[in-house]
Amino acid sequence: MRAMTVPEPGGPDALVWSEVPDPEPGPGEVVVDVRASAVNRADLLQRQGHYPPPPGAPAYPGLECSGVISAIGPDVAGWEVGREVCALLAGGGYAERVAVPAGQLLPVPAGVDLVDAAALPEVACTVWSNVVQVARLGRGETLLLHGGGSGIGTFAIQLAVALGATVAVTARAAKHERLRELGAAHTIDYREQDFVEEVRRVTGGRGADVILDIMGAAYLPRNVAALATGGRLVVIGMQGGRKGELDLGALLAKRGTIAATALRSRPLEEKAEIVRGVREQVWPLVESGAVRPVVDRRVPMTEAARAHRLVESNDHVGKVLLTTG
Ligand SMILES: NC(=O)c1ccc[n+]([C@@H]2O[C@H](COP(=O)([O-])OP(=O)(O)OC[C@H]3O[C@@H](n4cnc5c(N)ncnc54)[C@H](OP(=O)(O)O)[C@@H]3O)[C@@H](O)[C@H]2O)c1
Repeated sequence: MRAMTVPEPGGPDALVWSEVPDPEPGPGEVVVDVRASAVNRADLLQRQGHYPPPPGAPAYPGLECSGVISAIGPDVAGWEVGREVCALLAGGGYAERVAVPAGQLLPVPAGVDLVDAAALPEVACTVWSNVVQVARLGRGETLLLHGGGSGIGTFAIQLAVALGATVAVTARAAKHERLRELGAAHTIDYREQDFVEEVRRVTGGRGADVILDIMGAAYLPRNVAALATGGRLVVIGMQGGRKGELDLGALLAKRGTIAATALRSRPLEEKAEIVRGVREQVWPLVESGAVRPVVDRRVPMTEAARAHRLVESNDHVGKVLLTTG
């Protein structure tokens, strides 16, 4: 088969479509013939040599895919050859075939195109596990989402609205109209406006009950300032650096909580548990149309370098998909 290799870490042109050995399904695994994968921010870091795949994961980038099961290993129940699926991966989605632990498979939700289904696993698992499991976002609460136009943000807006929350997002102004269409009640241009002031203003001075943060150090003090009493800040990205200063007095006065999580490095059992939760609680919302995949565009997988340049420019809204065939 062919896969996107990275012989030397570097810019987008470091990605090389190469002939590689076919994957074999190990115990508890299936092989999926990939129809589409999607570009995640983490893939850019992996290409630059900063985010190696965890032990045992395929060497190629790609944290999710959709496709058709073509082989089944020992000890797999409930899945059959020919079934259309999408999957959460620890790597290897940028390829014609990938071996996947069966616990990370999801059916393609009814009403979703097989290619578009590749836009869902990583954002659904990340957003659901952090916003619902970790931060316990409740009906009537306010969620502040940084990077509303990202793959993560566009999914999180819809999920939070479907759960009965009010959503405020930060994003550059050109993306605001699209984010309001997706359900964001408040759009904040982080280049022109202070998000702390804006969140306080739109919540009548209370602040955000939950913040899903992708900026890390750069936003840490202001995120704490933007929290409501009893608020929960969950950090899932470090686009603004990893070492920030935390005023514990400010956090303590608010009885606030800060959590930080990563999905890719979790043990198989934890990923399977998250995937089960997504299937039970999120898939019905996708099938009802309340939450939809947001696809900026489809790019042939052989042109992944072009897709990486686009994502690096941040000009996309939602997911950039990579298609095979
Ligand atoms: N921990 C985990 O398990 C996990 C899993 C998945 C993703 N993530 C993280 O989640 C983040 C989003 O991932 P993705 O793949 O969905 O990313 P993406 O689509 O590439 O989007 C990145 C976004 O960052 C926004 N941004 C840049 N500077 C900003 C700033 N100062 N304030 C607010 N927004 C800003 C950009 O929007 P503008 O054009 O508006 O600037 C862009 O929409 C990444 O940091 C990624 O590493 C973490």
